[in-house]
Amino acid sequence: MDLVGNNFPVFFIRDGMKFPDMVHALKPNPKSHIQENWRILDFFSHHPESLHMFTFLFDDVGVPQDYRHMDGSGVNTYTLINKAGKAHYVKFHWRPTCGVKCLLEDDAVKVGGSNHSHATQDLYDSIAAGNYPEWKLYIQTIDPDHEDKFDFDPLDVTKTWPEDILPLQPVGRMVLNKNIDNFFAENEQIAFCPAIVVPGVYYSDDKLLQTRIFSYSDTQRHRLGPNYLQLPANAPKCAHHNNHHEGFMNFMHRDEEINYFPSRYDPVRHAERFPIPPAILNGRREKAIIEKENNFKQPGERYRSFEPDRQDRFIRRWIDALSDPRVTHEIRSIWISYWSQVRLEVQIYNSRNILFMNVEQIYTGFLIQCFSFCIVTQADRSLGQKLASHLNVRPSI
Ligand code: HEM
Repeated sequence: MDLVGNNFPVFFIRDGMKFPDMVHALKPNPKSHIQENWRILDFFSHHPESLHMFTFLFDDVGVPQDYRHMDGSGVNTYTLINKAGKAHYVKFHWRPTCGVKCLLEDDAVKVGGSNHSHATQDLYDSIAAGNYPEWKLYIQTIDPDHEDKFDFDPLDVTKTWPEDILPLQPVGRMVLNKNIDNFFAENEQIAFCPAIVVPGVYYSDDKLLQTRIFSYSDTQRHRLGPNYLQLPANAPKCAHHNNHHEGFMNFMHRDEEINYFPSRYDPVRHAERFPIPPAILNGRREKAIIEKENNFKQPGERYRSFEPDRQDRFIRRWIDALSDPRVTHEIRSIWISYWSQVRLEVQIYNSRNILFMNVEQIYTGFLIQCFSFCIVTQADRSLGQKLASHLNVRPSI
């Protein structure tokens, strides 16, 4: 299985259709080829679901010390399914046994400034010296019958699953015990893909995962060629047989006449069947915002979990980013509003669902009479106030 993950447990957006625009905003300016905060903060000012990811990116963990001292997260929700056909949602997490370490700004300048390949060098040298990097693999699981029991949508990639109620369960480990011989052949030409799963693991309805499972192989056919799975770095190591015969750069010698399946001339048979989660679907198919956006609660909780000096560094990085002269007053005040919980969401509970609405909708609504409601703890008012006073801006929303 390919766990194509990240060193953070969440992602910027929850709608895969926005991925190309997100990448453009994060990449260098197409005119100057300089990466610029005003473009990044402009794009994400339309996407408050990105706040949680920013509590990692602008936190100390945003600059890892090197590859050995980083967490790894699958981020997306997959499904584990046993032989009896029982399914559980699952998230995968790697934890380095040597702990997570970060570089604060002054050290980052020194370390990166003296050797821009420092992280690769650390990894290569550690493995060569027999000091093998190791990660423990943990899973968190949710019974799909409990999917609606949380104040967030468990299949939303902008959310973490709280470890106090959904504990990490150790299931394995990974040790890097050999350096590769040729960087291009064995690293650059690798084609990892979230669609590659093994029996017992299946996809879920996590929408961002759904957009990822086809886009990687599309890119890889373009980046490496249609026969990229024949490259030694990507080909199965066991005996295999498929009918992928043609296309550019086919370098596999084959002399058989049967290149279709099934055939009575060919003894090849199906591999052992394994269950995939069945699902009964009904209801409307529509393009809509998810019910439980809950964009602010987890970012606020994470910020409040930081020690005061870590909170100060987080705020300083925000001030730096928002001080880009091309960040407009409007964009600055939107970010301050996001962080200071000015945009209140109200949860309305009824017996079956939790609905989310903006405060303005509540005032005009009649629903209050029918439902009990509570105001959700949101990002963090003091964080927003600190940003506002440093930048001399008032929240606009
Ligand atoms: C809609 C969401 C996403 C889309 C459409 C998408 C698409 C892609 C594509 C097309 C590539 C290039 C693949 C290649 O050339 O081999 C890529 C690379 C990558 N993506 Fe994503 N991605 C998405 C979200 C994510 C998320 C949530 C993560 C982390 C959890 C992630 C982690 C990575 C990594 C690590 C690579 C480098 C893979 C490699 O070098 O083989 N992506 N992504």
